[in-house]
Amino acid sequence: MAKDPVRVLVTGAAGQIGYALVPMIARGVMLGPDQPVILHMLDIPPAAEALNGVKMELVDAAFPLLKGVIATTDVVEACTGVSIAVMVGGFPRKEGMERKDVMSKNVSIYKSQASALEQHAAANCKVLVVANPANTNALILKEYAPSIPEKNITCLTRLDHNRALGQISERLNVQVSDVKNVIIWGNHSSTQYPDVSHAIVKTESGEKPVPELVSDDAWLRGEFITTVQQRGAAIIKARKLSSALSAASSACDHIRDWVLGTPEGTFVSMGVYSDGSYNVPAGLIYSFPVTCRDGQWTIVQGLSVDEFSRKKLDATAAELTEEKALAYSCLT
Ligand code: NAD
Ligand code: LMR
Repeated sequence: MAKDPVRVLVTGAAGQIGYALVPMIARGVMLGPDQPVILHMLDIPPAAEALNGVKMELVDAAFPLLKGVIATTDVVEACTGVSIAVMVGGFPRKEGMERKDVMSKNVSIYKSQASALEQHAAANCKVLVVANPANTNALILKEYAPSIPEKNITCLTRLDHNRALGQISERLNVQVSDVKNVIIWGNHSSTQYPDVSHAIVKTESGEKPVPELVSDDAWLRGEFITTVQQRGAAIIKARKLSSALSAASSACDHIRDWVLGTPEGTFVSMGVYSDGSYNVPAGLIYSFPVTCRDGQWTIVQGLSVDEFSRKKLDATAAELTEEKALAYSCLT
């Protein structure tokens, strides 16, 4: 029997990530090839005409799974009945800007959209915040939508996770699909800690630890980390626009794994509400290694954290604590 359609909200849908993301959702990349969807697309009035153009293209593409499209500048209409909310709306960082520069513009959007989601989305709606500063926007959304369960509010660090997989696959000249269990700890910013201590590569003679195969600690603790940390800035420098296709694809990966589950023996990175695991301060949205099952994520416990890693976990937590204070100061 055909499944009922799922309503998926994409905010900022007239923007460049939105333009890459909505066709992926309509094709089943996010929720699976047998899951019909109704897209709710929100943008602001100056982008209304462009948003309508995206709707026209969605109609023209005749996606079999797409059972309806709402294109609106009304946040209540956009949020009503949605089970998945991908929050991309906001102002992107431009060349030369620090992420903090976009903070004040974006956190106030997340404060106001929190109540619309809380009041009008489906109970148990899963929220993914993509817009920067992603972790702190998600935290503000959580704090101003107290009735949404905290486990339902997450931010995107899967792009950083995928970037780390890509770097390891290039370095070792192996298929990216044969690399797994990298970890992004902390903030989606240049303080994030891409960690390969527990990463594995599938080889003909079984699974091998990445540190053993790379066997160049200086690269793993130096250039590898900075390349992943700075990849967003490198894309902005090259394209004069921030990453869009990779962000959209990673957003689909994040929701797909959250809803449909992670493969056995595999963990992925998600920005989630910290509970004090790994001595990360509770009450931040912090990227952890997680597994997902039955629509719920769980932080992977018991991984060893050496002294080098500890410092990196603490540094990115300190930045998030600072961002949280800055966000509140922007809101008052
Ligand atoms: P963009 O400027 O092309 O699109 C953003 C869209 O949001 C625009 O259409 C704009 O009109 C809309 N918008 C602004 N205010 C809004 C509001 N209040 N409600 C609804 N829509 C609103 O930007 P983009 O390149 O698509 O990037 C979007 C965001 O995603 C940026 O903040 C960017 O920094 C961030 N980003 C995050 C990641 C990540 O991995 N977390 C990766 C890439 C980009
Ligand atoms: C990215 O990681 O590509 C984006 O978050 C862009 C940015 O502002 O760094």
